[in-house]
Amino acid sequence: MARLKALRGTRDILPDEMARWYLAESTAREIFARYGYREIRTPIIEAYELFARGIGEGTDIVHKEMYVLQRGRERVALRPENTAPVVRAYLEHSLQQTLPLSRFYYIGAQFRYERPQKGRQRQFHQIGVEVLGEDSPLVDAETIAMVLEYLNALRLEDLGLLINSVGDPACRPAYRDSLREYLEPLLGKLCEDCNRRYESNPLRVFDCKVEADRTLLQEAPRMLDQLCDPCAENFTAVRAALERLEVPYRVEPRLVRGLDYYVRTAFEVTSGKLGAQDAVLGGGRYDGLVQALGGPPVPGFGFAIGLERVIMLLPDDHPDLPEGGVDLFLVAVGDKAHHHLSDLARQLRRQGHSVLYEYRPRTLGAQMKRANRLQARLALILGEQELARKACVLKRMSDGSQREVPLTELSGAVNTLLEAGGHDRDRGEKQDGE
Ligand code: HAM
Repeated sequence: MARLKALRGTRDILPDEMARWYLAESTAREIFARYGYREIRTPIIEAYELFARGIGEGTDIVHKEMYVLQRGRERVALRPENTAPVVRAYLEHSLQQTLPLSRFYYIGAQFRYERPQKGRQRQFHQIGVEVLGEDSPLVDAETIAMVLEYLNALRLEDLGLLINSVGDPACRPAYRDSLREYLEPLLGKLCEDCNRRYESNPLRVFDCKVEADRTLLQEAPRMLDQLCDPCAENFTAVRAALERLEVPYRVEPRLVRGLDYYVRTAFEVTSGKLGAQDAVLGGGRYDGLVQALGGPPVPGFGFAIGLERVIMLLPDDHPDLPEGGVDLFLVAVGDKAHHHLSDLARQLRRQGHSVLYEYRPRTLGAQMKRANRLQARLALILGEQELARKACVLKRMSDGSQREVPLTELSGAVNTLLEAGGHDRDRGEKQDGE
């Protein structure tokens, strides 16, 4: 029978990768908490309407990429992003009244029916933050500085911060018209997607990857040159605040985002090490979204990080990646000694150590081989003679040094040896390959 496989664009995250995920997640929790963010978890399925109204019916995300299910009369969507759901929850639970601070972060799976490629999946994961109710340009700058602090803590390299202002409802319509005017005579030469964008959302032409189109767009009018006074002042203030925080950035007038809710600040962090899908994260200000979802005029700012991309960039030698392997492997020589292993394991596990042993008696050589494969830090060897003396041998696997320890002193001796460390991370793998 043919074996089933994970769906295209989805992947299993296997145990060997998990330490990297834990590190990416725990570092976010730790750093975001310093800025007052608290976790929120929203459902994976939401009303279709939430994203149609929140992200925009004409966006690729809603129009082409959303997984939509019809259950009876209900039309639901797998969330393609988490900003609209957070705003929905904020309104539904009147969080602006009940919480002293509306700063949220989330970690979770998102779904977009895109063409899979390196760094682009149909189920992917984001860590994101949303600040609601704060419109100071300092919030934009500080939140951007926070996410860079996060990426630096993970030791990601070759990063660049791109910022832009995408204007607001006061100045964008006129800009959109001037862009359409520029594009119209070029439509015959531009790709099919750009022709569609011309109709639905002309700013999105700047996302086009077709080289010939990009050349044609070089002389296109720029939103930055047509900002209204309040938007221009705001952009200057955001830039000044970034400079005060010593955050290096580059203004990218062609940076447009794939979601309609942005106003003013839009930003991305890219990595030179990612290939075509080079955005590690993206975000910006979305002052009209709360209202668009039926709430009061509450400003918002946030970003979302693509976790798979962070995991790809995380250096293997990050000092906070925990060592693999178990603390102890228990080895019995002879059947009589083997009977004692389960009690010893229970005692040592109660002390907080990770402990494994063979359930069926095997040769000493087979057991030691297994200890190596499991990258045990210590082997506890129990033979008939040691048993008679109520003792065991503790062997440090990194250097082979060993000594006999009375069972009454076992816990102290194990603690001392494990604290002393000496575990060579690569040792188990090397021996496997021998
Ligand atoms: P976004 O730019 O659509 O923004 O996604 C943010 C990040 O998610 C991207 O920069 C990328 O790293 C990752 N990402 C997006 N699509 C995929 C995919 N198919 N496969 C792998 N990674 C992907 C948002 O989602 C906004 N909600 C961000 C935001 C929060 N704006 C304000 N608050």
